[in-house]
Amino acid sequence: MKSRTVLITGGAGYIGSHACLELLQADFNVVVVDNLSNSKLESLTRVQQITGKTLTFYQADIRDKAALSDIFAKEKPSTVIHFAGLKAVGESVEQPLLYYHNNVFGTLVLTEVMDEAEVRQLVFSSSATVYGESDSPQYTEDFPLGAINPYGRSKAMIEDILRDLSIADKNKPHKTPWKIALLRYFNPIGAHESGLIGEDPNGIPNNLMPYVSQVAIGKLEQLSVFGDDYPTRDGTGVRDYIHVVDLVKGHLKAIEALNSDIFSSGSCKAYNLGTGQGYSVLEIINTFESVTGKTINYKISPRRSGDLAECFANPNLALKELNWQVEKNLKDMIADTWNWQTKNPQGYN
Ligand code: NAD
Ligand code: UFG
Repeated sequence: MKSRTVLITGGAGYIGSHACLELLQADFNVVVVDNLSNSKLESLTRVQQITGKTLTFYQADIRDKAALSDIFAKEKPSTVIHFAGLKAVGESVEQPLLYYHNNVFGTLVLTEVMDEAEVRQLVFSSSATVYGESDSPQYTEDFPLGAINPYGRSKAMIEDILRDLSIADKNKPHKTPWKIALLRYFNPIGAHESGLIGEDPNGIPNNLMPYVSQVAIGKLEQLSVFGDDYPTRDGTGVRDYIHVVDLVKGHLKAIEALNSDIFSSGSCKAYNLGTGQGYSVLEIINTFESVTGKTINYKISPRRSGDLAECFANPNLALKELNWQVEKNLKDMIADTWNWQTKNPQGYN
C-alpha cells in the first residue's frame, strides 16, 4: 500500500499549520520541514493539541540538500505540499535576490531531492499574483501570466520549472511519474474555529484583514484605505477573500486528484482556489464592524502602487476536477479572524 505520509514544507506558517491540522484529522502522517524564518513552533504544538495527534517536525531549510535528502530517506513520504517561501511583495522589491534564492532555488533543491527519492507527487502554493493584467476581473486558469514584482515572478518561475519537469516526464516516463498541482490562491484570511492557530504577521501587516483586526483590537491606530477612485462599485479595491480552512481543504482534494485519473502521468495542472465572489475594502470594513461590533478607524489614502482595481477567481475548474468548493462565507472568515485575534492579541508570543 502507498504511504500516507505527506511532507509539508513551510508547515509551521499560517496556511501550512492549517493544512497540518486538516491532514492529521484525515489520518495522514504529517512531516513538517520549516526553517522557522517566518513562523513559530508554537503553531504546531497547538495543531497537535487541537487534533490530539502528533506530527514530525524538522527545523531545516529547504535549500539544505543534504538535510532534505536525509529527511526523505527517513520519512519516505508519498506526496509533498510545498508552502515554504517568502511572501512579502514590498520586501521582494527591495531584496529580489533573497526572494529568488529562497523561493526559486529552494524549489529547485526540493524537486531535485524529490526526483532522487522518487517522490514525484507535488502540490505547490502558487498565487493569483502570477496573472497579468486582463480585460476581465474574473480570472480563469488560462489567462495570460505576467507577474509584476519579484515575489510574483518567483511564483511564475517556479510554475514554469514545474511545467518543464512534467513535460520532460511525458517524453521519458518514470516508473513513478511526476504529477503536479499548482494551486493559485486568491486572498486567504480567517483562522481555525478553535482560535488556537491563525495568521501571526511579523511587524506591521501588509495585508488588509490582519491590518483591520489589529486596528479593531487597538494595536494599530488607523487603517489607510488605498484608493477610493477605482472603477469598482464603491471605488475601493475588490478581492476574492477565502477562508484558510476552505483553502487547505483544496489541498486534500488535490492529493486525491493526484492519485486519480484526473492526473495522467507527467501532468502539471493549475487550479484557482478562490470563492468566485469579490468584496471591496469598504465592504470588508462594514462587515467586520457588523460581525464584531467594533468600529474601524479608517481614512482614504492614495492608491498603493501595483494594486489592481478588481480581481476574483473563476473556481469552476477546481469544482469540476478536484470536486472542491468553499463552505464558509465572509462573515465566517471575519468571525474566525476576530476569535483568533482576541484570544491571541500578541499572536503566538
Ligand atoms: P508563512 O510565511 O506564514 O509560511 C511560510 C512558511 O515557510 C514559514 O513557516 C517559513 O518559516 C517557511 N519558510 C520560508 N522559507 C523557507 C525555507 N527556505 N526553508 C524552510 N522553510 C521556509 O506564509 P503563508 O501565508 O502560510 O503562505 C504559504 C505559501 O502560500 C507561501 O508560499 C506563499 O507565497 C503562498 N501564498 C500565500 C498567500 C497569502 O496571502 N498568505 C497568497 C498566495 C500564496
Ligand atoms: N488594502 C488597503 N489598506 C491596507 C491593505 C490593503 O486598502 O492597509 C487594500 C488593497 O489596496 C487591496 C485590498 O485591500 O485592494 C487587499 O490587499 P491585500 O494586501 O490584503 O491583498 P492583495 O490582493 O494586494 O495581495 C495578496 C497578497 C499577495 C497575493 C495576492 C493574491 O499580498 O501576495 O493576495 O493571492 F499574491
